[in-house]
Amino acid sequence: MHQLTSTELKSIISPPSLESLISTILFVCLLFPFTTEAGLYTASDQVVVLTPDNVDSVLVNSTAALVVEFYASWCGHCIAFSPVWKSLASDIKEWKPAVDLAAIDCANQDNGPVCSRFGVRGYPTLKVLQLLHSTSFMDFQGLRHKIIDKMETHAEPWPPACPPLETTRAELKTNSVGHLALLFETSNSYVGRELTLDLLQYENIAVRRVLSTEDGLVAELNVTHFPSCYLYYPSGIFTRQLEVRTFYTYALQRLPGVVRAGKPLPVTSDLAKNTTEDQLRPFNRSRVYMSDLESTLHYSLRVELAAHPVIKGEALSTLQRYISVLAKYFPGRPVVNNLLKSVDMWLKGEKDTELSYSSLRDALDNTVPNAALPEGVRWVGCQGSKPHFRRYPCGMWTLFHVLTVQAEEAADPQEVLQAMRSYIHSFFGCRACATHFENMAQESMSHVGTLSSAVLWLWSHHNHVNNRLAGALSEDPHFPKIQWPSPELCPSCHGVKNGEHTWNQAELLTFLRSHFSSEHLLSDYLEEEAHSNPRADKVQICRSAPEQAVNPLFLGRH
Ligand SMILES: Cc1cc2nc3c(=O)[nH]c(=O)nc-3n(C[C@H](O)[C@H](O)[C@H](O)COP(=O)(O)OP(=O)(O)OC[C@H]3O[C@@H](n4cnc5c(N)ncnc54)[C@H](O)[C@@H]3O)c2cc1C
Ligand SMILES: *[C@@H]1O[C@H](CO)[C@@H](O)[C@H](O)[C@H]1NC(C)=O
Ligand SMILES: *[C@@H]1O[C@H](CO)[C@@H](O)[C@H](O)[C@H]1NC(C)=O
Ligand SMILES: *[C@@H]1O[C@H](CO)[C@@H](O)[C@H](O)[C@H]1NC(C)=O
Repeated sequence: MHQLTSTELKSIISPPSLESLISTILFVCLLFPFTTEAGLYTASDQVVVLTPDNVDSVLVNSTAALVVEFYASWCGHCIAFSPVWKSLASDIKEWKPAVDLAAIDCANQDNGPVCSRFGVRGYPTLKVLQLLHSTSFMDFQGLRHKIIDKMETHAEPWPPACPPLETTRAELKTNSVGHLALLFETSNSYVGRELTLDLLQYENIAVRRVLSTEDGLVAELNVTHFPSCYLYYPSGIFTRQLEVRTFYTYALQRLPGVVRAGKPLPVTSDLAKNTTEDQLRPFNRSRVYMSDLESTLHYSLRVELAAHPVIKGEALSTLQRYISVLAKYFPGRPVVNNLLKSVDMWLKGEKDTELSYSSLRDALDNTVPNAALPEGVRWVGCQGSKPHFRRYPCGMWTLFHVLTVQAEEAADPQEVLQAMRSYIHSFFGCRACATHFENMAQESMSHVGTLSSAVLWLWSHHNHVNNRLAGALSEDPHFPKIQWPSPELCPSCHGVKNGEHTWNQAELLTFLRSHFSSEHLLSDYLEEEAHSNPRADKVQICRSAPEQAVNPLFLGRH
């Protein structure tokens, strides 16, 4: 393992002028006392936050080239640069074993010895172990290409986890890796190398670059577009002629049998086995199921809230807002809507300043005719390949996406988001999740000014969470965390600008409004399992709700 020394690190960004630095320091010092925490990066940024305690273990034992930004949290350039660094870190998170981004706040006194050990005097300074010389501020695409250039042209020692990036003269041979993706491109294109790194942590797939000048292979496959990707074995040949890497990454990471290293290979027979009391129900991954929404309500109202024997103060108003939003916007079957409305009325009529959970439970269970919430959970679109995957948190996201879309006539564009925010804050059982979500909400939820931006806010922050959790232990290997929706699910949501992937917000909004609309919800598994449920007699969905026959939700199986 290679050990870093400070001489191997070379500055690639020149410090701002001393004069401007001093005036910045003076200005900032007048406004704020020096704080020793609060850096520009947090654990959720895919940026390694260096401290005196972790720096040695990170550097010495790293298989990766580490690109470190030395910054001072008060420095305006650093603040301006931090979104670029975060975007780049998120963009190349799959490259981690080969190249990883880090940051250290030299304004934090505790970090001083580390910063001086690496000879840093101006901020921000980027240093990379033995790779980079000098460059100026660049957009992150430029930085990404620069990193690849340096990885390719560097002298020994090579980060041990870096995959081969050179072009291949491969003949058409099947191989032992499983899938083989051939990326045809011109010599100045980076897509092949980027894709190789994007799939670095995935098994059963190899990516090889083939130059457009490889006439034999180009002619044999009749390749006319560069770049384009051809996939071999075991699924035969396919081609996608989209010009940016994100599309290839999406497609290749989701091939059958392709899994992130260290994750068990999904075995389809696992899913078919009746190992849990809940058997796997066939379902369409591109759809939203009412059964997940009802299961989420059951779990939230009968399990999660039950952990709070007495609900008062802020928690009580949170509960009232949550139930009120559900009563207004939940696109449920009539019996369920009747129940939500009756609980809402009951809560609004309660004048006590505190509520016992048992009285809420009574209101949920001993209700008026034609009003009921089915007992138990029946996950469908939110099923996981193992009992600890997906389910309730998946249902929670889905519920609130549906509610933001349903609230199309709300007077207050933040009504649903704020109800979600306070529910998560007061009650969501995953406390770390609640903290993360609250941080995101504090940062930007107050900027939401229209109903459309509420829908998009939840979409984009859910993708933020997906980005942070990609590759985490909690990720179901059958349902990798992606920047959603995939190009297959919504082709028009994706676009390309200056060679980089972009989202088309107008198309996204149209897509989200349709995907989460009440007309589009599937009712599979609702009715019959309510019958077979041992406690279904309490629910009486089928016997006491004749009006359900005219509800479009109940017409046929899709
Ligand atoms: C508020 C909240 C905060 C959380 N924070 C954390 C956390 O900090 N750490 C942690 O480990 N887990 C956290 N979780 C759980 C985590 O986000 C997932 O819900 C869980 O890992 C299950 O993942 P999943 O594969 O079912 O997909 P989920 O992320 O739960 O998504 C459910 C479904 O929604 C759709 N979807 C995906 N992305 C989007 C999008 N951007 N917009 C609209 N629809 C989308 C997809 O069809 C997906 O299958 C949080 C959950 C919630 C509700
Ligand atoms: C590097 O890893 C080894 C083995 O895991 C460990 O014993 C050692 O303490 C680590 N070195 C540092 C500096 O953390
Ligand atoms: C699982 O259970 C269902 C219903 O009980 C049954 O029809 C099916 O054959 C079982 N599947 C397996 C693989 O045992
Ligand atoms: C799943 O849903 C999508 C979107 O509605 C549809 O196009 C597709 O045909 C469905 N797949 C199956 C197997 O029903």
